[in-house]
Amino acid sequence: MRCCYTQGVRNERFDHAYFERYYGARPVHSVDEIAHLATAVHEMLAWWGAPVRSVLEVGAGPGDWSNWYRTLHPAVRVTSTDVSEHACATFGHERRDIAQWAPKRPFDLVICTDVLQYLDDRAATRALRNLTTATRTCLYFDALTSFDAKHTVERSKTDLNATLRTGEWYRQRLSRGFTQAGAGLWARKGGTVVLHELERHR
Ligand SMILES: C[S@@+](CC[C@H](N)C(=O)[O-])C[C@H]1O[C@@H](n2cnc3c(N)ncnc32)[C@H](O)[C@@H]1O
Repeated sequence: MRCCYTQGVRNERFDHAYFERYYGARPVHSVDEIAHLATAVHEMLAWWGAPVRSVLEVGAGPGDWSNWYRTLHPAVRVTSTDVSEHACATFGHERRDIAQWAPKRPFDLVICTDVLQYLDDRAATRALRNLTTATRTCLYFDALTSFDAKHTVERSKTDLNATLRTGEWYRQRLSRGFTQAGAGLWARKGGTVVLHELERHR
């Protein structure tokens, strides 16, 4: 197989076998679990008075979040992207490397989960900048950290072959453009969300 690098990511890695292993019979998260999370995030933005009109799912894989929006909120403009040729062909995403691409217009809500641990430090730093540019109101973000790999995840179900950085590494870079609201949510600085002192981290 031809080996193809995209900013440090061997994207041949995210092939049929990868998705069978991590999203087949024993997925890390079920579609139902993601539906609960998507509902909570959507309603949190409604509580903040920031209705979601556009959504970008980055490194979407099976695209559980974008599918949830397309099914339950058809009026929302939804874009899903992934670097993997297989994921794009199978799940219908635009092929984009988040280390190299940011949209021309920002989206109200951007979702990026379990992607950046696959990028080296330079590419991940660029990707975080692009995620900031991509977000008008709120980012939902998660990435496997060194702490998670040791303490929080089910190791047998998790792909631990990744660049494990500290949570602080991500927090420092995200804090340049966002205020951390907690539970994975980051409100864009200068955006419409105003958080009370005790609703936010630091
Ligand atoms: C562990 S899966 C996560 C999929 C989905 N976000 C989720 O949480 O279930 C990692 C995904 O990130 C994608 N990916 C890896 N590097 C990427 C990059 N530089 N740009 C965009 N997508 C990337 C992979 O192709 C794969 O679909």
